Amino acid sequence: MKNANCKVDKGYRIAEVDNRIYGSFIEHLGRAIYGGIYEPGHPEADELGFRKDVIDLVKELKVPIIRYPGGNFVSGYNWEDGIGPKNKRKRKLELAWRVVETNKVGINEFVEWSKRVNSEIMLAINLGTRGIDDARNLVEYCNHPGGTYYSDLRVRNGYREPHGIKTWCLGNEMDGDWQIGHKTAQEYGRLSCEAAKVMKLIDPTIELVVCGSSHRLMDTYPEWESTVLEHTYEWIDYISVHSYYGNPENDTPNYLAKSLDMDTFIKSVIATCDYVKAGKGSNKTINLSFDEWNVWYHSREQDKKITSWSVAPPLLEDVYNMEDALLVGSLLITLLKNADRVKIACLAQLVNVIAPIMTENAGSAWRQTIFYPYLHASVYGRGAALYSLTETPRYDTKDFSDVPVLDTVAIFNDNQNEITIFAVNKDIQENMLVNYKIKGFGEFRIIEHIVYQNDDVKTSNTKDYPFRVIPEIKKDSVIEDGILKALLPKLSWNVIRIAIEK
Ligand code: AHR
Repeated sequence: MKNANCKVDKGYRIAEVDNRIYGSFIEHLGRAIYGGIYEPGHPEADELGFRKDVIDLVKELKVPIIRYPGGNFVSGYNWEDGIGPKNKRKRKLELAWRVVETNKVGINEFVEWSKRVNSEIMLAINLGTRGIDDARNLVEYCNHPGGTYYSDLRVRNGYREPHGIKTWCLGNEMDGDWQIGHKTAQEYGRLSCEAAKVMKLIDPTIELVVCGSSHRLMDTYPEWESTVLEHTYEWIDYISVHSYYGNPENDTPNYLAKSLDMDTFIKSVIATCDYVKAGKGSNKTINLSFDEWNVWYHSREQDKKITSWSVAPPLLEDVYNMEDALLVGSLLITLLKNADRVKIACLAQLVNVIAPIMTENAGSAWRQTIFYPYLHASVYGRGAALYSLTETPRYDTKDFSDVPVLDTVAIFNDNQNEITIFAVNKDIQENMLVNYKIKGFGEFRIIEHIVYQNDDVKTSNTKDYPFRVIPEIKKDSVIEDGILKALLPKLSWNVIRIAIEK
């Protein structure tokens, strides 16, 4: 048995967690839209063709905001192709993923669907093949009340009320040479500044996310951030951060240490933002939108076999196991520990494409392993993130040294008078006893200790075995002399919910 100590104090707040940190992402990619959220003719389809079984699973996750429509897709997308009568919509070659896009779902349908799942939309504009003109037209279409060409076009399409989209992305991963319309930092900095200007001239209440680097190992990182921010600082509110992780070497301890990479990435993007701020002598702080993060590696080989120009092929369909769920848990803890600067984050993606929710065409829908840490964080992680001063055993791996065996963070929900502790025990052999000294709250009691664990870290939930690994309630944790003594099984994700009595 390993031991660790953790101090949680009401007075030591990191920040109020912005609920949008529990956002997600749906791209026109693979079966995310077609066969995922939308499948007319499915026994569960509603009058617009949206699968009600999928809607129920998304609602269970309480996803506050969903990024749409891409991703790489957006850099070649003409949004006008997705509006108006469905039988007149064009089928087009979609070059980012080399498929055929039917355009049966567009912005209006996505707005309808987002209302059904109680989510806001974070809408990305195309700064690959398009630019300033398209940016202003789309904001006018979505957010202007009426009396102009594009706002009246929306009204004619059946939407008298504006869509009122508040958060917008200025393109996607424009630093990547795979991106349609890839740009240098100078080119993108100028273009995104001018696009941002017209968008805010139409609707000054919107918030804008400018593209940061596609990942930390890009040759242009962090020069890209610095140059782009030099151009756009006064017009934008957030800079994007993207990162995917995997375990191709099949080295579990090293894999579970990869949340350290996310933390380093976040800290260095913050440093770059603040460097530009200092140079400009600005009072404005740019925050982070970590709008693509997840595990992505299981499906990469299988995707190479998919032939081009089909409709909604099964692309990026990672089947997640228990160790993926543990890493996702640690990544969520990392985002929460940086809640003072990470205001938006999107688990990429939501349905079928590297997703917590899977569907079978004409068949069932089920929860992957990564569904559960995301669910717990989104449902129980609302409130203020507290500094959790932790003494934990540590280990070294191929890529990391001094890796904490215990990852943990506490969230205080003032409205419900509850504290939630999230914790991952990364030890592959031993359980861990953690003494949590909880200060400044008076008396408290354990509501429940949820544990997600399985002795086989390669176990998955599948269509045929959708409930093979589900969370359990454990009774092993106790409060003694005002100290929470939490027993965390080896290789486990834990949620300890505490009620404050006085
Ligand atoms: O989420 C899958 C892809 O990953 C997105 O389209 C792109 O932005 C990123 O490279």
